[in-house]
Amino acid sequence: MDLHEQARQILRQNDRGGYTLPTHGLYPYQWNWDSAFAAWGFATFDLPRAWDEIDTLLASQWDDGMVPHIIFHDPDPGYFPGPDVWSAGGDPATSGISQPPVAATLVRLIYEMNPDASRDRLAAVYPKLVEWHRWWHEVRCVHGPAAIVHPWESGRDNCPDWDIGMANVDGSKVGDYTRRDTGHVDPSMRPKKSEYDRYLAMVQFGKSVGWDQKRIVSEGPFLMADPGITFILLRAHHDLAVLGHALDQDTDEIEGWETTLRAALPMIWNDDLQGYDAKDLRTGKFARFLGSGAFLAYLANAARPELDTQLMRVWNAVPYGIPSADPEAPIFDARRYWRGPTWPVVNSLLAIGFRDMGRADLEVRLRRETAELIMKNGFSEYFDPTDATPCGGANFTWTAAIWLTWAGQDYEQAKGAA
Ligand code: GLC
Repeated sequence: MDLHEQARQILRQNDRGGYTLPTHGLYPYQWNWDSAFAAWGFATFDLPRAWDEIDTLLASQWDDGMVPHIIFHDPDPGYFPGPDVWSAGGDPATSGISQPPVAATLVRLIYEMNPDASRDRLAAVYPKLVEWHRWWHEVRCVHGPAAIVHPWESGRDNCPDWDIGMANVDGSKVGDYTRRDTGHVDPSMRPKKSEYDRYLAMVQFGKSVGWDQKRIVSEGPFLMADPGITFILLRAHHDLAVLGHALDQDTDEIEGWETTLRAALPMIWNDDLQGYDAKDLRTGKFARFLGSGAFLAYLANAARPELDTQLMRVWNAVPYGIPSADPEAPIFDARRYWRGPTWPVVNSLLAIGFRDMGRADLEVRLRRETAELIMKNGFSEYFDPTDATPCGGANFTWTAAIWLTWAGQDYEQAKGAA
């Protein structure tokens, strides 16, 4: 079957009516940033359905403005940790942390596909996006850069950036539990048990303070500055302000957040590493790892010449896509989730940045390599960047979405020309 048709079919099959599962089995709920990508994908063939996805995501916004990372619409015993473990409330129940705020950036792209047909839908979601961005600014950016209180909040769950912060978390008292992820996919591609114990300890802490987000930031076991979210948020503030202008809104407050966040970037620049770096905000120590979080600087127009050098070194070390961790670092693990593999969805964000910075050469190369992965091995969650092996869940929503919106562009053109 034609790859575009396959991609559309994946979106339809993972559609649960207003929201989309990342993939059947492994991820049976609505995930925050996955949903924003799903919406972008839907927008290529069903614009109203794209807006519905954004609506259902924002319908679960908390009173404090946070948009949670998982919305547990329809309880599924095949997933752990489920709503009972989080105990974070909500109807439907949600998790108690957030996820990368790509929504405003992707909403802008969706809006610009057809402004006339989208204006009312945009007007309905805009105030909620503003609330969510205010939450990031007031709750998670109190130290300057965007901070995360759990590695899952970063969207890059087990990347090496979080190792030093995780080392300070006591995972020895979490009690017995049964993981479900390793029953769905090869355990060697998933985080280890020692990491899982700590993930749960952080969830238990959040629960113990009634998910009071300010207390989690000030007293929780884990607090790290995340370059990835910092750049995503910086870009998203900018895009939100553009959307505000389109709706004739006063955007001074949003532009103020953008300026403040940009001014905090020197805090996450590590001269020794010659790159942006995650920082443990409890100890002030850098993680000393270069990975895809740092390269998202391109998305926020925050790249520096030193970063160009690093990007080319890391990228040229593998044949397929930009790896999530430095292939020359000892911790590099080509198939273990965020510790080496390349993620089409992250590549698509980097591509937006390359294009906007006038680096068409980089964008074209990344698109070609990402398309090759999908053409060879399907719509997998992520891939081994050394040999293109498909990893994680299959028929993945966001991989299908970025095929339709970006990676499959040349394929579609070639087909049209044939
Ligand atoms: C994993 C990923 C996260 C994603 C989720 C659902 O937890 O690390 O980024 O949102 O799966 O696909």
